[in-house]
Amino acid sequence: MQNRSVDPRVSILKDISPLLTSVLDTDSVLEMIIESVTRLMEAKASSLLLVDKGTNKLYFQVATGEAKEEVKKFEIDMGQGIAGHVASTGKPLLIPDVSKNPLWDSTISEATGFETRSIACVPIKSGREVIGVIQIIDREDGQPIHEDDMEILKHFSELSSVAIERARNYKDMVNENLYLKKELESRYEIIGVSKAIEKVIADAVKVANSKTTTLITGESGTGKELVARLIHKIGPRRKKKLMVVNCAAFTDTLLESELFGHEKGSFTGAISRKTGVLEIADGGTLFLDEVAEMSPSMQVKLLRVIQEGTFNRVGSPSPMQVDIRAIAATNKNLFEEVHKGLFREDLYYRLNVVHIHIPALRERRDDILVLAQHFLDKYKHIRGPSNISFSPATTEVMQNYHWPGNVRELENAVERAIVMGSGEFIEPEDLPFSVVPSGDTAQELLGSSLKEALDSFKRDFLQRNLDHQGGSVKDTAKVLDIQRTYLSRLISKYGLTTRRSR
Ligand SMILES: Nc1ncnc2c1ncn2[C@@H]1O[C@H](COP(=O)(O)OP(=O)(O)OP(=O)(O)O)[C@@H](O)[C@H]1O
Ligand SMILES: [Mg+2]
Repeated sequence: MQNRSVDPRVSILKDISPLLTSVLDTDSVLEMIIESVTRLMEAKASSLLLVDKGTNKLYFQVATGEAKEEVKKFEIDMGQGIAGHVASTGKPLLIPDVSKNPLWDSTISEATGFETRSIACVPIKSGREVIGVIQIIDREDGQPIHEDDMEILKHFSELSSVAIERARNYKDMVNENLYLKKELESRYEIIGVSKAIEKVIADAVKVANSKTTTLITGESGTGKELVARLIHKIGPRRKKKLMVVNCAAFTDTLLESELFGHEKGSFTGAISRKTGVLEIADGGTLFLDEVAEMSPSMQVKLLRVIQEGTFNRVGSPSPMQVDIRAIAATNKNLFEEVHKGLFREDLYYRLNVVHIHIPALRERRDDILVLAQHFLDKYKHIRGPSNISFSPATTEVMQNYHWPGNVRELENAVERAIVMGSGEFIEPEDLPFSVVPSGDTAQELLGSSLKEALDSFKRDFLQRNLDHQGGSVKDTAKVLDIQRTYLSRLISKYGLTTRRSR
């Protein structure tokens, strides 16, 4: 084997390699690379250009030498000049005298007044793709750049490629981690400023430390599961599992086997032994969603679990013991279900030891815009890095809408608006159609119960009358032909604004 003498500069290169690849900020990695190239080559100027995938042009990421600031203002097309040629062909080029080379494009040289004689340029590749180029211009001592120099330069290009990839991966990783972390945090974040939501959170915090069975009620999409997760997460059981079972999603047999597990062959389809959710949640929390949908026979079994902590696997004669904290949720009025004979009274009282009711969003209007902004922040990345906000008209529409689907509907509406809208402002027409006021109150209130519709109308009607009378309770009562005391009660019930509360 031929023993070629190793250029001493290669060993310097080897020494600095670990340093370069350990610096994790792309910009500093590249600056260090170019500084080292310039020093080692004793070059008059060097630069590192990267391909902008969006425009397919090369831009100066780093430049050294007298004209470095001016140079950075230029962009080079693929194929243009020597750097452009190297970027498009992926092959290194050494040009001892640029004046004799047809590829030479003197634009930059002339504009910056930086005289150039020789150029060496090598591609930086990631796999087969050219991601940039490194070029050096002339040597300090006036000697032309040599073939040997090219070898060094190639080493640097490989090094740059590793460093860029590592730094880019790292950057992605950091962004990804930050994103995941934020996402995780926000999953348990219950947003709201209304008195009502503050009470919900305060109650959740209070019950979190005990094993007390808790019933969470509220319309669909008000955040019942969110509150259940909060209770689990801040309580002493947080290190154990929270298991969610949607009682409406199973037939009786399947719900039983889901909760209690079953022995092999205990019923048709039970091909192997199955561990039930209760065993998995042992020491932790069981969240029973849509508990009102449970059949009477399952209600009996659930009562036993909650009272005694015991149950039998389907097909097993021996009872098992677990330590479970139960949280149940429903959007029905469970008390009414008891009256209708659909829900066991004893189970109702067992579940209802502590009751947390989450009011509908339209009953805590102070939360609407705070939540809307929260979801805007959560989803605006969908459109990439841009500034998006709600126009005043949109804010008004959202504030006045009755949100039959509650927070879930608001979340979906904002997400959709971000996707559908294009400008800096989200406009009313970007919201789902149903959100846009039609001027037809009955149409707008579709989906509400009669009571809600009447309440909504009353609130609006009373407030408008109050406003019309300059906020005077006395005058408004007169116009409406009702007692002042009655109006006062309605004012506090609906949280209306009067002259005094302004
Ligand atoms: N106060 C809140 N702050 C932030 N997000 C919320 C809030 N309330 C609800 N959400 C979000 O709204 C959506 C619906 O909430 P969740 O699933 O907890 O409602 P739910 O009452 O269980 O609804 P359903 O009865 O339909 O099961 C979720 O994405 C949840 O994160
Ligand atoms: Mg739910």
